Amino acid sequence: MAAMDIGIDLGTTKVMVYRGDKGIVIHEPSVVAFNHKTNRVLAVGEEAYRMLGRTPDYITAVMPLEDGVISDHVMTEYMVKEFIKKACGNMMVKPRVILCVPSMTTDVESRAVIETAVAAGARKVFLIEEPIAAALGAGIDINKPLGSMIVDIGGGTTDCAVISLNGIVCSKSIKLAGNSFNREIVKYINHTYKILIGERSAERVKIECCDVYEPTGRTIVVKGRNLLSGLPQSLEVSDLEIQRAVRDLALEIVSTVRSVLEVTPPELIGDIYTNGIMLTGGGAQLSGLDRMIAENTGVRVNVAEEPDRCVAKGVGLAFKHLEALQDGFTHVSVYKYK
Ligand SMILES: Nc1ncnc2c1ncn2[C@@H]1O[C@H](COP(=O)(O)OP(=O)(O)OP(=O)(O)O)[C@@H](O)[C@H]1O
Ligand SMILES: [Mg+2]
Repeated sequence: MAAMDIGIDLGTTKVMVYRGDKGIVIHEPSVVAFNHKTNRVLAVGEEAYRMLGRTPDYITAVMPLEDGVISDHVMTEYMVKEFIKKACGNMMVKPRVILCVPSMTTDVESRAVIETAVAAGARKVFLIEEPIAAALGAGIDINKPLGSMIVDIGGGTTDCAVISLNGIVCSKSIKLAGNSFNREIVKYINHTYKILIGERSAERVKIECCDVYEPTGRTIVVKGRNLLSGLPQSLEVSDLEIQRAVRDLALEIVSTVRSVLEVTPPELIGDIYTNGIMLTGGGAQLSGLDRMIAENTGVRVNVAEEPDRCVAKGVGLAFKHLEALQDGFTHVSVYKYK
């Protein structure tokens, strides 16, 4: 990978940018703040994230990929442009860019993001599918005629794919991932205790006090607003009740994995049985999910090292595989800047 190569994981919750000479140089939330008075981007990433829900009328701070798809393509383009500028600094040479967009992005939306990258100074732009990037980043050799199953659990989407010979053999994506768990926790506490907690508190509950397979009875204190009195209140919840609240979501991920296994060709399913299923994405860290999938499929499950970085690392590594990925496979598209 040359210094002027840039890999971008355009995720629902975060954007990561991989630079050929430095590795991951940007790891920030997928948020953009726009000033409508001046018609200019005010901030992106971390800075814009702090503005969410705290802006006057003429400023919008949004997560433009909120639901696992590009929900606001104009803001997405602004955001991508700013991140490319930020990553390149005063690079003299126009970079080659590999982009990984959420799996449910339409061709028109992908095209728009590609053109944004070109407008931001990219010399050449390639598009890679998320499971392929995730597999590369997890250290899987995708070149061989050997089946591997990747389950990438992001913030907005869960992608389950069987990969062999640089291509996706069968796959399924659902709009259920890490953020769905946060929303379910908010809903549960709201219904049960009539207390409204924020999504960030819900995320803390999920990370610190949730095991979807084997809860132990530990508890956590969260703060929110009592919906009856309107006043602040704190409460203690246990991982047992949180597990009951989110179990169905975890089971839906399990059933997606099963449905892909059911349509996997027999030779490849044999490989997967031998090598196990690889979990990637930030959501792969959800406690107990690996054991739940293993128990319900009878296949060993491995969680990748630094699972939330797999796609970004894979996008960086994809530069080494450009030829193979392009050779007869449709999942990498090339758009040359003329
Ligand atoms: N320790 C953890 N335990 C459970 N979930 C976690 C943990 N750390 C991060 N997550 C969850 O991982 C999700 C983000 O994962 P990731 O960064 O892979 O998403 P993304 O790439 O932005 O989204 P997508 O791939 O869907 O576009 C969030 O929902 C976050 O709550
Ligand atoms: Mg992702």
